[in-house]
Amino acid sequence: MSVYICPVCGKPLVREENTMRCENRHSYDISAKGYVNLLGPGKSVRGDDADMVAARRRFLNSGNYDALRNGICEVLKKIEFETLLDAGCGEGYYTKRICDEFEKAEIYGLDISKTAAEKASSLCKTAHICVASAYRMPYSEHSFDCVLNVFSPLAADEYKRVLKKDGHLVMAAPLPEHLAELKQAVYDSVNVKEMKDTKIQGFKLVSEDSTVYRMRLETQLLKDLFTMTPYYHKTSYEDKAKLDGIGMLDVTAAFMIFDYIRI
Ligand SMILES: C[S@@+](CC[C@H](N)C(=O)[O-])C[C@H]1O[C@@H](n2cnc3c(N)ncnc32)[C@H](O)[C@@H]1O
Ligand SMILES: [Zn+2]
Repeated sequence: MSVYICPVCGKPLVREENTMRCENRHSYDISAKGYVNLLGPGKSVRGDDADMVAARRRFLNSGNYDALRNGICEVLKKIEFETLLDAGCGEGYYTKRICDEFEKAEIYGLDISKTAAEKASSLCKTAHICVASAYRMPYSEHSFDCVLNVFSPLAADEYKRVLKKDGHLVMAAPLPEHLAELKQAVYDSVNVKEMKDTKIQGFKLVSEDSTVYRMRLETQLLKDLFTMTPYYHKTSYEDKAKLDGIGMLDVTAAFMIFDYIRI
């Protein structure tokens, strides 16, 4: 039984060579890179652009978020799963590690950005990667034992639909002090936001863990880190340029990793 469903009619998609087809003959080609675009007709592709994806890849490859990646794997080790979806997988930094550590599991990744999906499918050869919106996922009901969300939009209703009963939602989210020094370097005044309510309707929180540490970053990594945040597109050219001559800066990384069960 195929996990994928057609974004037009909702019928199961079956793979025939390099195409996925439903019984109504809607078809979707699997790209040479290995991902399939299931965004559906008339849906424009948004999400992270090529600059953001490249900046994230450089930053993540510097190892400064390895503690988060290790923390996520530790949480996943406590969960029994055969199928996992990385929702908003970006270019597959976390997806790849999960494929390597949990070899027996079927790993899926979804992102609305075509550039990100392309990179993820090149990096994670054994994962099933598609371009789609997290708010309208091309998977049948109760397909996954676990959904992972790392800094991506939270589509709780869809997670609930595609998760099996008692399936897990593992979510990484920033704490209020995350990247405080970077924001202070860019903006004249910074509002420290309170941590959002951790309740998610339809889910029960079973564990939460915080990781806080300092990263010593030079100019290029500071710029890459800023470029991969949601602030990037909302910040003026003048404010962004403040990072150009900044040199070295110690920046706080502060994350929470939550483990929820679908109820
Ligand atoms: C902050 S990035 C995190 C990427 C990856 N999880 C990581 O931590 O490296 C957020 C990702 O969510 C994707 N995204 C944004 N809106 C989305 C949506 N509606 N559906 C699916 N993905 C979305 C972006 O393209 C981007 O790759
Ligand atoms: Zn169809």
